[in-house]
Amino acid sequence: SWTPEHFVSSMVAALQHTIGETDQVILGLSGGVDSSVAALLLHEAIGPRLHGIFVDNGLLRKDEYEGVLQAYEVLGLNVRGVDASQEFYSALAGLSDPELKRKAIGRTFIEVFEREAKKVEGATWLAQGTIYPDVIESVSVKGPAVTIKSHHNVGGLPELMNLKVVEPLRMLFKDEVREVGAALNLPPDILNRHPFPGPGLAIRILGDITPQKVLLLQKADAIFIDSLREYGLYDKIWQAGVMLLPIQSVGVMGDERTYEQVVALRAVTSVDGMTADWAHLPYDFLAHVSNKIINQVRGINRVVYDISSKPPATIEWE
Ligand code: XMP
Repeated sequence: SWTPEHFVSSMVAALQHTIGETDQVILGLSGGVDSSVAALLLHEAIGPRLHGIFVDNGLLRKDEYEGVLQAYEVLGLNVRGVDASQEFYSALAGLSDPELKRKAIGRTFIEVFEREAKKVEGATWLAQGTIYPDVIESVSVKGPAVTIKSHHNVGGLPELMNLKVVEPLRMLFKDEVREVGAALNLPPDILNRHPFPGPGLAIRILGDITPQKVLLLQKADAIFIDSLREYGLYDKIWQAGVMLLPIQSVGVMGDERTYEQVVALRAVTSVDGMTADWAHLPYDFLAHVSNKIINQVRGINRVVYDISSKPPATIEWE
């Protein structure tokens, strides 16, 4: 029967067999479970001939870039961090339409990734953290040979750079990926991390993106996520985050009337993200988060809770 230990030993052997003895492999890392587990497997197989690239698109959670890079370092992975925030902000400037924002982010990611990948001398392979549900999802659209979801979308890149593709997780479901990650000692922080969209906070800021709005949302989001952990709720939730709404509302602070932003808290339970129920979070918890955000984040004076399920709503607001 299938065990993570057996999968690891047979996959490591298979990777060593497939990848030539002096070949160099590039992998885009996101801080998520899939790409991290793919990295660990390849690291077992070929050590420093795996070249990880982790791009900061300026749309990650608060302190995530530094935290994830450090975790990779501790694991002994050969990973280079690339801070490309300004490039993404420039590409996004003035865009409000959700699909245009996604396209700008996808295009910029490919530009940055290609530039960084070219710095890896003699690279002949591109590794990807594609898992089985990604394969299924994209077959109808793209055919089984190229199975790339938008969050690690380097579509066109293998052809462009003449790279062969290796996908060690393409036969695994998410829970199996987690078991393999645990067998490879991936820290629980990454192992149990909620899904996070590739376009990041850009699709949680309704309307156009500015670095100031990103900073504001990062602060509110960190309070929500840290509180979920403090109250022991994080692992009971499929995914959670804060949406920054393009709305100002009237409030009162001391003797002053305020006119500031509204944020919506979003938390759902789900099995696969295809359908989802809004999480029935305790009122005391919601009160705690609301007070903390309004008291600590200047510029936000109202917090609402999203009680919509999917379908007909979606998890994200864009
Ligand atoms: P929705 O909002 O469609 O989201 O219910 C379902 C899951 O997909 C994530 N999501 C994305 N992931 N690129 C991604 O990589 C995207 O453009 C994107 N849009 C949504 C969302 O966070 C949820 O986990």
